[in-house]
Amino acid sequence: MIATVARSGLAPSPLRGEGWAEGLPERTTAPASSGARQPLLQLKKVNSFYGPVQAHFDLDIEVRKGQIVSLLGGNASGKSTTMKIVLGLLKPGSGEVNFNGASTLGLSTPQIIRKGIGSVPEARRLFPAMTVRENLLMGAYARSDRKSVAEDLERMLALFPRVAERIEFQAGTLSGGEQQMVAMARALMGRPQLICMDEPTMGLSPLYVDKVLELIARINSQGVSVFMVEQNASLALQIAHHGYVLQTGRIVLSGPARELLADARIRDAYLGGEGAARTAS
Ligand SMILES: Nc1ncnc2c1ncn2[C@@H]1O[C@H](COP(=O)(O)OP(=O)(O)OP(=O)(O)O)[C@@H](O)[C@H]1O
Ligand SMILES: [Mg+2]
Repeated sequence: MIATVARSGLAPSPLRGEGWAEGLPERTTAPASSGARQPLLQLKKVNSFYGPVQAHFDLDIEVRKGQIVSLLGGNASGKSTTMKIVLGLLKPGSGEVNFNGASTLGLSTPQIIRKGIGSVPEARRLFPAMTVRENLLMGAYARSDRKSVAEDLERMLALFPRVAERIEFQAGTLSGGEQQMVAMARALMGRPQLICMDEPTMGLSPLYVDKVLELIARINSQGVSVFMVEQNASLALQIAHHGYVLQTGRIVLSGPARELLADARIRDAYLGGEGAARTAS
């Protein structure tokens, strides 16, 4: 039975613990195992519009501290628009958006990022002509603590060895999977409490899909909450605690990831469907 009550434990996943390097920034926030009852991000009755076109209808979404929450849905269901709402790139017509219990609606995107939300946007959006190092440092632009920024850069290179090998390359010359890792490392350089990721596995080879999901689980296990948009429901739900399914701007299903994975409606709509096809490409 699908319920909307979140659970605090992370589902065991074959993707976890496959020997990726240690090395995330030390965190001052609660680790993944504690504080799971407090909503970190909360969207309440959000209605969003592009001019006269309504993209969200009374959207209710919660990400609790320490969780990975997956937002699933087909093309044009409103997933990326949800990310825009969270990051303040689009203001909702009505409803509430709260982070750590405080409204973000009056804040600009840089102010929201400074509150502790990191972004890994759709298609990575690196600065292609800049080096990987310069891209990573852009992620720390709001920080003034140069010494700890340098330390975090070293930790990122330990966490993402492939990125370390490419550190002086122009970002635009990297493969899709490598660019995804740079985008994740860049977001982590801002020391976020929550990372928002829009289709992090899209267009990647199966090997990189596994690596990216493994890294998301590892990042989360070290205390960073994750809100990720995915079309590939089966993979996203393997590492998530909780999932929501969007259909033309409405949440039609939500619940613990393990229960969603077993749900016939999810299997019929997503597993073995378009999402799986995208991963294999
Ligand atoms: N800038 C925009 N102006 C007008 N309509 C838009 C704009 N961006 C998105 N939309 C519309 O809002 C709806 C939701 O789009 P959104 O990009 O959030 O979907 P999505 O679930 O991320 O889709 P995809 O899986 O293709 O990335 C779609 O009908 C889309 O056409
Ligand atoms: Mg999208």
